[in-house]
Amino acid sequence: MISVFVFLLLAAAAPASGRFTPDWTSLDARPLPSWFDEAKVGVFVHWGVFSVPGFDSEWFWWHWQGQRPPDPKCASYMSENYPPGFGYSDFAPRFHARFFDPEEWADIFEASGAKYVVLTAKHHEGFTNWESPNSWNWNSVDTGPKRDLVGDLGEAVRNRSLHYGLYNSLYEWFHPLYLSDKKNGFKTQEFVSLKVLPELYNLVVRYRPEVIWSDGDWEAPDTYWNSTQFLAWLYNDSPVKDTVVTNDRWGAGCACKHGGYYNCQDKYTPGQLPSHKWEKCTSVDTLSWGYRRNMRLKELMDLPAIIQDLVGTVALDGNYLLNVGPTADGTIPTVFEERLRGVGAWLQINGEAIFASKPWRVQTENGTVPVWYTSKGGAVYAVLTAKPPETILQLQAPKTSAATKVTLLGSPSALPWSPLHPNGGLTVLLPELPRTPAQAWTLKLEAVQ
Ligand SMILES: *[C@@H]1O[C@H](CO)[C@@H](O)[C@H](O)[C@H]1NC(C)=O
Ligand SMILES: *[C@@H]1O[C@H](CO)[C@@H](O)[C@H](O)[C@H]1NC(C)=O
Ligand SMILES: *[C@@H]1O[C@H](CO)[C@@H](O)[C@H](O)[C@H]1NC(C)=O
Repeated sequence: MISVFVFLLLAAAAPASGRFTPDWTSLDARPLPSWFDEAKVGVFVHWGVFSVPGFDSEWFWWHWQGQRPPDPKCASYMSENYPPGFGYSDFAPRFHARFFDPEEWADIFEASGAKYVVLTAKHHEGFTNWESPNSWNWNSVDTGPKRDLVGDLGEAVRNRSLHYGLYNSLYEWFHPLYLSDKKNGFKTQEFVSLKVLPELYNLVVRYRPEVIWSDGDWEAPDTYWNSTQFLAWLYNDSPVKDTVVTNDRWGAGCACKHGGYYNCQDKYTPGQLPSHKWEKCTSVDTLSWGYRRNMRLKELMDLPAIIQDLVGTVALDGNYLLNVGPTADGTIPTVFEERLRGVGAWLQINGEAIFASKPWRVQTENGTVPVWYTSKGGAVYAVLTAKPPETILQLQAPKTSAATKVTLLGSPSALPWSPLHPNGGLTVLLPELPRTPAQAWTLKLEAVQ
C-alpha cells in the first residue's frame, strides 16, 4: 500500500513526457543539479559602467537621473567633477579595464575556496559585458574595454575547475522599449521579444553558464517576461540543461516561491532551517555591490564577520555568494583580495565542515560561545565562531557514546571529553587554539547523534 502510494507521488512530481512544461508546477519540481548544494561558496562580481563613477553604488545612474527627486549627493558629485552635459553614456569609453587580467582574477577566486563565480553580464543600466547583438554600442566590445569580458573571465574561471554563472537583469531602467511596455501596463512585450529573450538565449548558447542569476524582475509579472517559456527551454533543450541552476527572480511575486534555489531578498537569511535550497548573497562592502572610490574600511565586513555569516548560512542549508566590486581599471581592490584569500585560508583547514555538508539535527546553540553545526558522512562538525574564554567548552546538543571521538580540524590529536548530562551534551578540553584572523575553529565529532 505505502510503496504504491509513494510511487504515485514520485510519478506525479516527474514531468510525464520527461520534459518540463512552461508552468511553475512543472519547473519548480526540477531537482536542483547536485553540484550547487555541494559547492556552498561562490564569489559574486558586480562590474559595469557603474564602476567608472565608482560613487554611491551600482544604482548610481538611477539615483542621479531616474528617481524623483534625484539623490542630491549624486547630482553634486556630477556637477562638481564633470563638465556640463556629461551624460551617463559618456562613462562607457572610460570603462577601460586596462589592467584586467582574467587569470589573476581567477587565481584570487580559486584561492578564496569558492567553487563558483557569478559575474554581472548585464546590470540594470543595460550595458552588456559581452558583444550582445541586441545592445548595439552599449556593450564591452563596441566601447570601453573593447573586450569580451564575460567570455574572457569564463575561460579563466573554468580553467580552474570553478563553475561559472552569469547575473542578468531582466529590466533596464531607461530602455525605451521597456519604458513603453511599462506605460502599456505590461500588456505589450516589445522589450521582452526584441531584447530580453534574444539576449538570454545568446548568453546561454554562447557561454553555457551554470548559474543564471536573474534580477530586475519585480516590476512586471513572470508572464510579461515569458519566464516559464524561457526556463522550459533552458531545462529541456539548452546546452546546459543538465547542469544549470537558476534563482527565484523571474517576475513579481516569484521570489521565495518559484524558480530554482531561493534568494528571497538581497542578504536574506531565514530564521530557521528552510525546506527549500537557498543562497545568501552579500557584499564585502556593506554599502554597495559595485565599486565605490570612497569606501572606508569601517564600512567593509571584516574576516570574522564573513566567516560567521558563511558558517551560519551553510548550517541553515544555504550557499554563500560573497560579492566584490572591481574597479573600472579592471583590478580587484586589494582589500577585497585580502578578504577572499582570508576566507580561502580558513576553508583550507575548515572546509571539511563546509563543502558537501548537510544540515544537522540541530543547527546552532549558544552556550560557552556561539556554535553552528553541520554534518557529513557520519561526522558532526561544531564551528565555534568566537574564542572560548577558557579551555573548557560545553556543547549541549550532541548525544555521545563510548565510541565518541572529538578532534580539532587542522590538528591530529583526539581531545579529552566527558559527558555533560545523562541524556546528552559533552564537555571538551580544548587545546591551545591556533591563532587565526578568522576567529573561528571547528570541532569534528565522530560517533555522536
Ligand atoms: C587550463 O589551461 C591549461 C593550459 O592551457 C590546460 O593545459 C588545462 O587543461 C586547462 N584546465 C582546465 C581544467 O581546463
Ligand atoms: C511569450 O509566450 C507567449 C505565450 O506562450 C508566446 O505566445 C510568445 O510568442 C512568447 N514570446 C516570445 C518573444 O517568445
Ligand atoms: C550568545 O550569547 C551571548 C551571551 O549571552 C550573547 O552576547 C550573544 O549575542 C549570543 N550570540 C548569538 C549568536 O546568539
